[in-house]
Order: sequence, then structure tokens, then C-alpha cells
Amino acid sequence: MKFQLSAALVGLAATVVSAQDIQSGPFTLHIKGTKSNTEIDGYAVSCHAGAAIEGLCYAEGVAVPSNSITYYFNYTGYNQVGDDQVGSLIWNEPYTDENGNPASVEQEMGLVYQPNSNVAAPLFGFSQDIFSVGFDSEGELFGYDYYDDAKFVAGQPPTDYTPKAYYQWAVCWQYFTGYYYQSVAWVQNGAPHNPTCEPVVITKVDI
Ligand SMILES: *[C@@H]1O[C@H](CO)[C@@H](O)[C@H](O)[C@H]1NC(C)=O
Repeated sequence: MKFQLSAALVGLAATVVSAQDIQSGPFTLHIKGTKSNTEIDGYAVSCHAGAAIEGLCYAEGVAVPSNSITYYFNYTGYNQVGDDQVGSLIWNEPYTDENGNPASVEQEMGLVYQPNSNVAAPLFGFSQDIFSVGFDSEGELFGYDYYDDAKFVAGQPPTDYTPKAYYQWAVCWQYFTGYYYQSVAWVQNGAPHNPTCEPVVITKVDI
């Protein structure tokens, strides 16, 4: 009962405050490999992955400002890990409106999972399945969760709902929505099932 109540409250809070998001940005996302011999040093770029769907691809080198590498962060102020806000990563999808003028629409980042892998691919689209993320005091992007099923006990609902930051980013060759890209990945737990993955840190660079 306690769990159901708190879950209902979280849902209610999300509904009530969604119209009052606070937005930060724009920024680019620097991607750096963490292995000692890594060659990964570049930035994130939105890459075509279907009609109005983009992946979060990896590009080598130094970012040249453009819309495809510019991101924003929306948060409500009601959810934090320590002092760090939790919210969603946003990219502006450009399109041509009915009068032929350039327009754009905000897309929030979600994750696409594969049944036989522990590696998920971030995707910007119109899914309601948003991946909650945040930036710590060093500007490092983290993934958010508030319970840990490794601590579950049969028949006893969890009691610890402490918000936590997880750093499980990688750059991998990934296949999603019919495209094969070297792109940002979220390794759900343990060693990545995909052998092309390299662990990375992703840091926000204000522009
Ligand atoms: C992000 O926040 C801004 C500022 O409140 C708001 O205008 C925009 O609609 C929000 N975007 C999304 C996708 O919620």
C-alpha cells in the first residue's frame, strides 16, 4: 500500500508540474572514453533514425556549433539527487511548417531496450518513455533511479527510495530502428553484452 501511494503521488506530481518545467541550456555534450588507451574523444550529435526519430550518435573531434549538436535540459525542481536536478534531455527537431517556414519541436530523450541485451540506445522521438537524467556539479550526465532490485526481498516491498545517480554510459556500435551507428549507449548493469562498447563520461559544455 505504501508503495502504491508513493507511486501515485510521483505520478500526480509529474502531471501537475509538467507545465512548469524549468529549462537550462543550450549546451553541447562532450564524450570522453575512460579506458586508458581510449581513442574516444568527441561529442554527441543527433542522427537520423526514422521519421522524426533521432539517435544520439558519437562524432569524433571538436564540435562546430549547429542545431544537431545543441541540447537542453528540462526539470521540474521536484526531483533531485542530492543538490542535482533530475529531468529530461531535449533536442529541437527542425521541420518545415504548413506555411513552408522553418519550425522546430522539442523531443525528450528515451531509451530503446533490446530483449537479448543489457545495452539500451537513447532515442529522441515522441515516446512517453522518458529517461530521467541529470547533471552533477562537474557537469557530468547521469542516469537516475530510486530503487535497486538487487536489494529486493521476496514478499517485502522495498523501503529505500533514495534517489541515486548512475554513470553507465558507453559508446557502442548499435542497431536500432533499422540503422547501425556508433552512438551513445546506456549499459543497464554489469559488463556490456555488446562487445563494441567502450565506457565514456558525458559532460555538458555550455554554449
Ligand atoms: C521545457 O521547458 C520549457 C520552459 O518551461 C517549456 O517551454 C517546454 O515546453 C518544455 N519542454 C518539454 C518537452 O517539456
